Amino acid sequence: MVLVLGIESSCDETAAALVDGEGRIVAQRIASQDAEHAPYGGVVPEIAARAHAERLAPMIEGVLADAGVGLADCDAIAATAGPGLIGGVMVGLVSAKALAMASETPLIAINHLEGHALSPRLADSSIEFPYALLLVSGGHCQILRVNGVGQYKRLATTIDDALGEAFDKTAKILGLGFPGGPAVERVAKDGDPAAVALPRPMVGSGEPHFSFAGLKSAVLRAHESANHTAADLAASFQQAAVDCVVDRLRIALEGMDDVGTLVVAGGVAANATVRAALERFAADHCMRFAAPPPALCTDNAAMIAWAGVERLGQSDPLDIAARPRWPLDPDAEPVRGAGVKA
Ligand code: KG4
Ligand code: ZN
Repeated sequence: MVLVLGIESSCDETAAALVDGEGRIVAQRIASQDAEHAPYGGVVPEIAARAHAERLAPMIEGVLADAGVGLADCDAIAATAGPGLIGGVMVGLVSAKALAMASETPLIAINHLEGHALSPRLADSSIEFPYALLLVSGGHCQILRVNGVGQYKRLATTIDDALGEAFDKTAKILGLGFPGGPAVERVAKDGDPAAVALPRPMVGSGEPHFSFAGLKSAVLRAHESANHTAADLAASFQQAAVDCVVDRLRIALEGMDDVGTLVVAGGVAANATVRAALERFAADHCMRFAAPPPALCTDNAAMIAWAGVERLGQSDPLDIAARPRWPLDPDAEPVRGAGVKA
């Protein structure tokens, strides 16, 4: 049976996992750095890199011990090689290179975004290409057509903030702490999504791109100017964000009749309101809807190991570089008005 070791260290989760050829997660460990970054209200790259460096080696040892296997039993070592915070990516990639060299096991450098993009197939092996993917995380907000492994066509991106970033900033404005997404979702449960009038940036535009900076500013203004409860503001923000996502999807998928499945991945895919809205959208458009379980939506190493399974046979050179930026679709046109995050 095929076995791949996966390593993830691109942001603030240190993770290692073993996944077999059929998508079974044989062992996995994950350590969040929330406590380290919380005092700063966001991820501090230097602190993240140090924490990865301290935790990763014992974690890999632990995962191998949990499964009762050694590196010699692995068919490949798959590590995130970007995009992400470069110090953390380097910690994971250098560790993978050392293990690959010592055990003479192939190294597979994985694009973290491809890990997210293929995660639905890890969760459900019946999902076939092509599918439409909404990738919504802290650093990325894209709609992609996934034609196969390594074959991505970007249909839409954000011209400013990513959706997860908008959740995190809203949480900061409301004093809900870090990480923000789960906190906003929790607080929103007790709020009225129609209580505060907030804009739906880009809705109505014929281009399918996203923008969330204006929504975040509107949350700040509403918070400062009126006596709304955090619950009402959180619920209203979440509803506005969901309305934007659904409208942008509608534009992006117009005329794409050969794509029968809509998949959501990335940290924000853990949000139940987002998932429910996408499920409705898919049903309305006669599409099948799939979302990995929440633990596979946020950063993890099982999705990196799985991308390694999908790419088995590939062997990257030991001098391959970590990449702070690494678009899934290198041919995508730059979007007018977009900042560095596009
Ligand atoms: O995929 P991920 O773990 O890391 C990146 O690659 O960015 O995504 C993290 C992002 C954060 O912005 C976090 O606030 C958001 O996903 N997130 C959520 C939820 N859980 C995580 N946003 C909304 N609702 C959630 N339940
Ligand atoms: Zn991620």
